[in-house]
Amino acid sequence: MDVVEGRLFFQGRLQKACVGMEEGRIVSVRKALRGDEHYEFGDRLILPGAVDPHVHFRDPGLTGKEDFSSGSLSALHGGVTCVLDMPNTVPPVIDASALKEKREAVSGRSWIDYGLFAGIAPGTDVASLGKCVGYKIFMGSSTQSVLLREEKDLARGIDAVGKAGRPVSVHAEEDAMLLRREERSLRDHEECRPRQAELAAIERLKKYQDRARINVCHVSCLESLSSLKGSGMTFEVTPHHMLLDSSMDLRAWGKVNPPLRRKADREALFQSFCQGEVPMLATDHAPHAYEEKERGFGEAPSGLPGVETGFPMMLALVKKGFLSLDVLLRSACCTPARTFGLNKGEIAEGRDADMLVIDPREITVIKGREMHSKCGWTPFEGREALFPQAVFLRGKLVLKDGSTMAERKGREISYA
Ligand code: DOR
Ligand code: ZN
Ligand code: ZN
Repeated sequence: MDVVEGRLFFQGRLQKACVGMEEGRIVSVRKALRGDEHYEFGDRLILPGAVDPHVHFRDPGLTGKEDFSSGSLSALHGGVTCVLDMPNTVPPVIDASALKEKREAVSGRSWIDYGLFAGIAPGTDVASLGKCVGYKIFMGSSTQSVLLREEKDLARGIDAVGKAGRPVSVHAEEDAMLLRREERSLRDHEECRPRQAELAAIERLKKYQDRARINVCHVSCLESLSSLKGSGMTFEVTPHHMLLDSSMDLRAWGKVNPPLRRKADREALFQSFCQGEVPMLATDHAPHAYEEKERGFGEAPSGLPGVETGFPMMLALVKKGFLSLDVLLRSACCTPARTFGLNKGEIAEGRDADMLVIDPREITVIKGREMHSKCGWTPFEGREALFPQAVFLRGKLVLKDGSTMAERKGREISYA
């Protein structure tokens, strides 16, 4: 048995304690433990690794933007020890052979554990897709997306997902309500993808909420938030919708779907998050090259990177007293793991030993060129963050003081 000792968040509070790990799992949590290898972190915090239920690692097919190696390294540096990767890669993962191809392409290349989504297109035979962590439906057009917009296709897709027993994550914007016209600014982008389109998609999904486990991605405005509260659906909020808005001078570097909205939306989302009403924090890490964003607003692709900065920025907000650690860990670790049936997201006996070491004294300032994503920029330039000093993945020290330690050993997760 190996032991990690520090101040850990256990049974609802921070206390000095030891975590015993064997064969990749947590086997014991006690005041004192003796192990073969003993990692002593003094008064630094030991937290569960974050589980990000929504990233776009672009592999295969768009690996100039990102690949599984760079995307997972970026995640590791951001304290994320498990990601669920979206299917809008090339070819789109909407049939069994594309899923198999993707599985083979990314195998052995990840620094952290991962699950793969399969997308549902009008002709997708869900039953024949094979093993995947969940399904993805795009109701509104976005970058490299395959749409499911007709009622009969949506009904068929959701019923098939219900039978398969895995959750379905939905990009909820009604395609028919999106305006195609020239855009020159974040405000134009917001007008072309109105909040009513998101709300209408969510209302449509509600009719199906008893037929499958529906998860609404990246909720962007306060009306959607009110509509989802108390519904039978889970949902995600991104760091960018809580920290950025369309009045900021981000130009195409803030262009994303659904769009950044008004200051009042941003504040409502953050407040709701702080109150523990948001089930899951998801970064929707969607990197595009700097040169693509430089093309001019209309031509620039939508999407922004975030897997390395999301959890560390939230930790800095905990340190500053805006947010409780308990709430953050529930949304960033525990609930994503539970929603997708992963044996992760908590420091508890039997769970995978995925843990981070954080020194709350070591606040740093985010710099795009220091990030590990291929894109090399961030919309959060200059923001404060608490990056992990060490990361354990299934009991092995994989990152320490900014350097990777062992061979990469991330693998596709298994799920209940
Ligand atoms: O802005 C976005 N970018 N929204 C999406 O739904 C897809 C994503 C991407 O893959 O770039
Ligand atoms: Zn989306
Ligand atoms: Zn996405």
